[in-house]
Amino acid sequence: MSSEDDQASQTSAGVFGRLTSYGDLGFSRFIRRAFLNSAGLDDEDLARPVVGIVNTTSDFTTCHREMPQLIEAVKRGVLEAGGIPFVFPVMSLGEILTNPTTMLFRNLMAMELEEQLTSQPMDSVVLLGGCDKTVPAELMAAASADLPAIQLVVGPMTVGDYQGERLGACTDCRRMWTEYRSGRVGEQEIAQINAELAPSAGTCMVMGTASTMACVVEAMGMSLPFAGTAPSVSSQRLRIAAATGRQAVELARSGRRPSEVMTGAAFRNAIIVLAAIAGSTNAVIHLTAIARRLGLDIGLDDFHDIAQQIPVLVNCKPAGANYLPDLHRDGGVPALLRALEDVLDLDVLTVTGKTLRDQLAAADGPQDYQDTIRTLDDPLQGPGALVTLYGSLAPDGAVIKAAAASPHLMVHEGVAHVFDSLEEVEATLDDESLQLTPEHVLIMRNIGPVGAGMPEAGSIPVPRYLARQGVRDMVRISDGRMSGTAYGTIVLHVSPEAAVGGPLALVRTGDRVRLDVPGRTVDLLVDEAELARRRAALALPSPPARGWRRLYATTVNQAAQGADLDFLR
Ligand code: FES
Repeated sequence: MSSEDDQASQTSAGVFGRLTSYGDLGFSRFIRRAFLNSAGLDDEDLARPVVGIVNTTSDFTTCHREMPQLIEAVKRGVLEAGGIPFVFPVMSLGEILTNPTTMLFRNLMAMELEEQLTSQPMDSVVLLGGCDKTVPAELMAAASADLPAIQLVVGPMTVGDYQGERLGACTDCRRMWTEYRSGRVGEQEIAQINAELAPSAGTCMVMGTASTMACVVEAMGMSLPFAGTAPSVSSQRLRIAAATGRQAVELARSGRRPSEVMTGAAFRNAIIVLAAIAGSTNAVIHLTAIARRLGLDIGLDDFHDIAQQIPVLVNCKPAGANYLPDLHRDGGVPALLRALEDVLDLDVLTVTGKTLRDQLAAADGPQDYQDTIRTLDDPLQGPGALVTLYGSLAPDGAVIKAAAASPHLMVHEGVAHVFDSLEEVEATLDDESLQLTPEHVLIMRNIGPVGAGMPEAGSIPVPRYLARQGVRDMVRISDGRMSGTAYGTIVLHVSPEAAVGGPLALVRTGDRVRLDVPGRTVDLLVDEAELARRRAALALPSPPARGWRRLYATTVNQAAQGADLDFLR
């Protein structure tokens, strides 16, 4: 080994880690050096710790449009701190341009990244993501590889404006589309509104899944202060990117691993923050999957129990009125953590090597401006933003975002109308001959993990003819998900799902269904003898014939377990 190799191995494995196998270690180092030299790297470069930078730029992921600038800033930070940056591509999951849903590919992205983290020579990694599934996929990979890692998101979009009204993706996309379907907004207006819904680069700027994950990851200590909320187009985001690069070099030298940061206590903090921001129901699936990669058993009841104790403090859509740039202006996640400090474990270690307590003490920003961030004594809403339900329709559990549901539907019994596929919804929902009423319960099935990869189609629209009568919400129940930006009285993640023979598969149009959110139940009011007859006649769908979709459908577990592949836990 040369003196440079020797120096590198004392601080980290560096570029001579994870050598390609040729059956001759000397030759492996020799040929690696030749190819690194070909990239313009000299011996001084080769002695530095290696920081991998995950590039999830894609023209199909419009939310990541500013990522190339962030990558340059991270590289600058890495070089300033004495590391050597290596940027590498990982599949990018853009929520809006992927069919049928990015959720079908979250685990594929996690697998791809895990293999890159464990086969290429790097001492730490900066996980650059943002759009909904990218952050959970990256953290699942980092958890499994347990390589020193730090998260950097692209940050939220700025807010749009239409005739003085603030607009944003995608709570207002859904609200305005409902107004258009009801006839209150015309063709020309909806076209103008469309141009203002996503007015800049960045992720959706309401408390959807991307914002939720960005906030809980910062709360968990896996990113730097303010990294969750600084706007995508701000200079602060560039400064955070450079600081993230410098921190990644420190991580490479210290060897601090994700398993030291993402502990059970850190997940508990994250779930407290999830409740306080009335965050996306998708975070329940993602946090469960990440935790299980680390051998931590987090289940639906953990989310429910914490949500019953923690009120909603953050006033952002869809549960509130404001947007992520407002949350950032009012102090971002550090201010929120200060508001929650009586209930958090502040002694957890963060990615900086400091405790959360020390990190909060050092974070600047507003200390007492309480517009978007309320206090525990003066919350936006009481506890219970998220409720997990059980019952004859969901023996293994289901989830409802009570904070974004209609109070008058929290206890509701009605007649079921069943949709077996999204194609059926598209073809028949607005057909007045179905004679649906606001009291009907709409069942959307076969869109669970096995059935369809779990698209965000649980929030099927209110039928157009009812919307025109002023109906804005109905009880909807499904084995799929909904966007974190959506709202309504919508029971999601019903488990087990219809495609594996769960009770949702046995419902027939005309059955009575009862939802009792305060009582935590969702039941099919059909007697057991009839259900047994239906069960005996049930034919389950066959899995796809080949490729990733077959591997996914035959190995994915249910939403309550995080919808990970059973062999990746
Ligand atoms: Fe990318 Fe909303 S579509 S974050």
